[in-house]
Amino acid sequence: MVTINNIEKLLISFNEKLTKINNLKELNELRVLYMGRKGYLSALMQEMTNLTNDEKRIVGKKLNDIKIIINEKIEKVNKELEQQSLNERLVSEQIDVTLPGTKISNGTIIHPLTKVINEITELFIAMGYDVVEGPEIESDLYNFTMLNLPIGHPARDTQDSFYLTPDFLLRTQTSPVQVRTMLSNKEKEPIRIICPGKVYRRDDDDATHSHQFTQIEGLLIDKNISLAHLKGTLEVLVKKLFGENLNIRFRPNYFPFTEPSLEVDVSCFKCQKKGCSLCKNTGWIEILGAGMVHPHVLEMSGYDPNIYTGFAFGLGAERVAMLKYGISDIRFFYINDLRGLNHFNQIDSGDINEG
Ligand code: DAH
Repeated sequence: MVTINNIEKLLISFNEKLTKINNLKELNELRVLYMGRKGYLSALMQEMTNLTNDEKRIVGKKLNDIKIIINEKIEKVNKELEQQSLNERLVSEQIDVTLPGTKISNGTIIHPLTKVINEITELFIAMGYDVVEGPEIESDLYNFTMLNLPIGHPARDTQDSFYLTPDFLLRTQTSPVQVRTMLSNKEKEPIRIICPGKVYRRDDDDATHSHQFTQIEGLLIDKNISLAHLKGTLEVLVKKLFGENLNIRFRPNYFPFTEPSLEVDVSCFKCQKKGCSLCKNTGWIEILGAGMVHPHVLEMSGYDPNIYTGFAFGLGAERVAMLKYGISDIRFFYINDLRGLNHFNQIDSGDINEG
């Protein structure tokens, strides 16, 4: 029954329940219970239809007053609870700005292979060479034929290749860059280039073989270039890499693209030629292949061998880094173990002579 008395009782019960409210969720439930469409207040409103007009006026006003009071009270408690929950969050999410931050290390480690490549290219840049690159997918023509290795030449078999089509392969050596440079230069000027890059051969990977490795090719072409220029240049290179007090020696060898062809040894930097495991007791370590550019190679790429001569060399960057840093397994270069790389980063190139 909707009476003034019942309405006041409703307010008393609301007040009582309001004192027990602890959070916004409970407050909302209380609001729905009293003020919602199916709540207590609207139930009393519906009952008003049974009243006389005079009663309606008095009871209606009372109901309205109560509604306003309840609304105001809910609003007030709502504000308090919101402030309270904000305070709680501020306490729980407090940030201690004096705590140390998360350290992100800089990429300061230079890979030993990169170090060797940089050291060699910088040396040759200082001697006036250009650093050039060539494609890793190379034509059979440039990789072999124009380097004096026509189809069927037995020396092709020493560089077991990854062919992509009958005419294209993953380059087995950086020497095709010689051909590319000569063809694009066409006798216009002397050539001095150094070319580091990846090469590919069908090898089974083990401690000393990798199906992919890094070569550094050098080429110099001009008038009146002789073997003495080659020797002088390689002496500078080897001393820069392994130490000032070392010697080099030439041994005859065979490469189809050079004549004469040479194998270059460096005197053992570990034992100073006394004989040790590194130099297999010979006192010498094989370091690179070189030679005077074959007249036919010059000719095929547009250089007149009666006017121009030149030298070329090719070395394996991994082999140099292994010797320099005492690394015994070529696979080390490709596994990217930061602990190992960091260790080699700390070795100064001067340390190797003490080993
Ligand atoms: N291309 C040779 C190889 O992969 C290395 C080489 C030897 C390059 C002698 C040269 C050279 O330019 O003159 O085995």
